[in-house]
Parts: sequence; C-alpha cells; structure tokens
Amino acid sequence: MDRLKIAVLISGRGSNLQALIDACAEPEFPAEIVLVISNREDAGGLDRAKEASIATEVIRLRDFDDRDLFDDALDARIRESGARLVCLAGFLWLLGEDFANAWRDRLINIHPSLLPAFKGLHVQAQAVEMGVRYSGCTVHFVRPELDDGPIIVQAVVPVFPGDDADSLSARILTQEHIIYPKAVRWIAEGRVRVSGEMVLISGTTTDEQILINPES
Ligand code: GAR
Repeated sequence: MDRLKIAVLISGRGSNLQALIDACAEPEFPAEIVLVISNREDAGGLDRAKEASIATEVIRLRDFDDRDLFDDALDARIRESGARLVCLAGFLWLLGEDFANAWRDRLINIHPSLLPAFKGLHVQAQAVEMGVRYSGCTVHFVRPELDDGPIIVQAVVPVFPGDDADSLSARILTQEHIIYPKAVRWIAEGRVRVSGEMVLISGTTTDEQILINPES
C-alpha cells in the first residue's frame, strides 16, 4: 500500500498528534507521518513523535528576521520531507497567505468549535460564556484567513449548564481525536474533493461526516 506522507505541525502537548500517530500505527491506515515540526522547543508533542521514531524539527519564529522567512523555512523543510499533506494540530501560529496558497487543499487544521462559530483562541470558554447548547470541533482545509476554509468533518457535543472551559474542552478533545484521523484517512483514500466552499466526500454517509455525540 502506498501511504500518503504527512507532516504534522504542533505547538504544544500534541494529543491530536498522538491520535494521528496511533491511527498511522494501524496496518491498514493509508497515511504515515514523515515529519513533526514544532515552533516551540518545549512542546510536549515532540516527545510523542520521538517515542514513535518520527523525525522532528523545531523551527522558531525568533530565529528569522520576519514571518515570511519563517513560513519559507517551514515550507522548505516540509517539501524536503516528501510530505504531500500538512496537518496543523494545535499549531498556534497564523500561517501567511503565500504558505496557505502554496499548500491550498493540502493543508488541514483541527479547531475546537463548530466553525464558523468561535474563531481564534479560548474558544471553549467563549462557547460557555455565550451559553450555546452545543459545541464541538471541526477539521477543515486552511485558507489564509484565521480559522477559515472548507469543512471536512465536524463532531457535535452538548454543553451542560455546569460546564466550564475545562470540562467542555475535555469533552470536545475526545471527539477531536476521532475526527482528525478520520479526515486524514478520507483524504489519503482520495475520497475528498473541494468544490468552491464545499467539501465533497465520496463513499461516506452523512452520519460519518457529522458526528453527534450526546452521550459523550
Ligand atoms: C486542540 O484542542 C486543537 O483543536 C486546538 O489546540 C488544541 C491542541 O491540543 N487548536 C486550535 O485552537 C487552533 N485554532 P493538542 O496539542 O493536545 O492537540
């Protein structure tokens, strides 16, 4: 089986990276992680990658004169790795327009809200403060604008009256770990097509694309 080579970009603990590592460890999974890049040398996810014998690289903004040069360094290293898909997994940096355009439809992100609601940081706290009854997570193709782009898959979770940002984050995170490998699998299987603002996925049911988890 020819596996899709992916690069994963992280900034922190890397639990979504771990979900991808675990998925890729399955013999039938159609993708493999060839490189993990962090923009922070203290990201816990780097240890997870090393544990799984995956190449790691730290590329820090402060080592470059401007953000474009930083993005160029990321781009060069990813290309060198042979990766054909880039997965942002808690990568807390807004990539520039050139990078986003160069990797258009080959760059995906996971975000802990039901986009287009709640963009930016601390979105679980925003959801609790707004009193929404449901929140969730989204895997989407990346466009240059913050937390924007065609949606591949979403999972929905309830927000309970006693929830705070931590309890809601934990409920959402469980679903992130399910939908991110799912999206990568679909892409690797060649079943995902972007048509305008929409993502069309062949051979899946609607239930697979919209996961509703009232019990979780
Ligand atoms: C995850 O909740 C991810 O959805 C979020 O950062 C967390 C990273 O956790 N990403 C964003 O907010 C991007 N806008 P992890 O390092 O354990 O995967």
